[in-house]
Amino acid sequence: MRLEEKIDSIFPRVEDIPEQFRQKRIDQNEYLIGGKIHRWEGPFIEVQSPICAPKDGRMAPMVIGGFPSMTPQKALEALKATARAYDSGRGPWPTMGVQGRIEHVLRFARAMREKREEVVRLLMWEIGKTLKDSEKEFDRTVDYIIDTTEALKDMDRAGSRFEKEQGVMAQIRRAPLGVTLCMGPYNYPLNETFATLIPALIMGNCVLFKPAKHGVLLLGPLLEAFAEAFPPGVVNTVYGEGASVIGPIMESGLVDCLAFIGSDKVADTLKKSHPKPHRLRCILGLGAKNPAVILPEADLDLAVAECVSGALSFNGQRCTAIKIIFVHESVAQRFADAFAQAVEKLKFGMPWEDGVTVTPLPVPGKPQTLAQWVEEAKAAGSAVINAMGGTVNGTYFHPAVVYPAIKGTTLYTKEQFGPVVPIVPYADITRPIRYIEHSAYGQQAAIFGADPKKIAELIDPLVNQVCRVNINSQCQRGPDAFPFTGRKGSAEGTLSVSDALRAFSIRTLVAAKDTAANREIFSRIVRERSSNFLSTDYLF
Ligand code: G3H
Repeated sequence: MRLEEKIDSIFPRVEDIPEQFRQKRIDQNEYLIGGKIHRWEGPFIEVQSPICAPKDGRMAPMVIGGFPSMTPQKALEALKATARAYDSGRGPWPTMGVQGRIEHVLRFARAMREKREEVVRLLMWEIGKTLKDSEKEFDRTVDYIIDTTEALKDMDRAGSRFEKEQGVMAQIRRAPLGVTLCMGPYNYPLNETFATLIPALIMGNCVLFKPAKHGVLLLGPLLEAFAEAFPPGVVNTVYGEGASVIGPIMESGLVDCLAFIGSDKVADTLKKSHPKPHRLRCILGLGAKNPAVILPEADLDLAVAECVSGALSFNGQRCTAIKIIFVHESVAQRFADAFAQAVEKLKFGMPWEDGVTVTPLPVPGKPQTLAQWVEEAKAAGSAVINAMGGTVNGTYFHPAVVYPAIKGTTLYTKEQFGPVVPIVPYADITRPIRYIEHSAYGQQAAIFGADPKKIAELIDPLVNQVCRVNINSQCQRGPDAFPFTGRKGSAEGTLSVSDALRAFSIRTLVAAKDTAANREIFSRIVRERSSNFLSTDYLF
């Protein structure tokens, strides 16, 4: 079949979708507030899949269900339930011992595992993630939860002793921040929602979470697990249009901690709408325009393989994706040709197809936006150098390799978050360095080379501009034990299994002058186990 026909027929007839991957319509009419699963009787927001089917003579996204379009009042009800459970830090959850909280989280992880198949299928249908990557997202999340419990034990062991300094004795531990609002992104609707929600919970915060804009239904199967695993009000859900439900929540001033992964624009709005922004702790994962820099001596096969995967895994919809490639002019044409050829070999199709990499996009209108940016680049003198690059069919956008990408065009500076790869030839290494310095973002960069001296010369300026410099490897968040953060407009706070525990808590101490009377008070409290905080219990 010719490429054009293949793109034309990318969407299967419903009857041709393998039985095990078909998705029944889900009207997600349940929500969790105050420990109870309630039934929503109000209006719904329709869930459109990136998978299209013919409708009125053209391909249109299939409607696979709906979820509650909550009112501001309902959103505030969910928030108040969260605040009640926290009870100014006096609730059973924030005062519970670490061992107890770990047991609740592990109970949740066990129940979550049972839902793997359902959640994985919904990841494919709601956001178009491939089967392999959807499974990886699920398994990585469960591993993250387990690793979090182990990291907390480590942290707690360190805090299970008293310290004495200058005649003062103290026990120093980490205490929760309070009412926490968690909002994840659509590209990792499970993993990145849970990468903040689980550490927030386990540190004793009470959480209200709103699913991402796309990838809502996939959290439905986990509501029961949340309700059963945690005390009432410790986890609550809010659904609906961000502006109507999150606006009032932030304006209430009841949110102590905001965990948000998404755009910088939304993050700014959220922060500004808190009546006392100085009281709000933020953990933010925002945009990025991670560059790859290909030095003249680089192993081009390796660089092409890493950059194709770095730029186009999940269709480039990763904050860590390589979003622009600078190649030394002496190898630029060779690199660009090999890159285009490698892209042409990528299999595209439905998320459940074997070996597929490129799939349809979940954001309405995204293919058209990308096509516009590609047209703008072409008008400025760039070319699309892979066959049929930029062809649109419904929600599908065929990857486009744009070469040479031109300064001043949208693709050069803006985060495309989609399957378009701008490649820029450079003569002088100061060009990519200046680019990184002037970028609005500062997450990661990738250097490809073979000369240790030249690589070292780049490492030193770059580590003060971005938070991870990858050598001969694509940019990525993992392993999850490593710190994940960014400078400038890319992030606030650091996430990793152990860093997240710190991000969602604050060092707090109980201290007293080291007198005989105070020693006796401390040792009686410890002996009689009358405090969960002041305790020398050691977690094995
Ligand atoms: O969207 C941003 C993600 O944090 C990227 O994570 O590098 O594991 O795909 P990843």
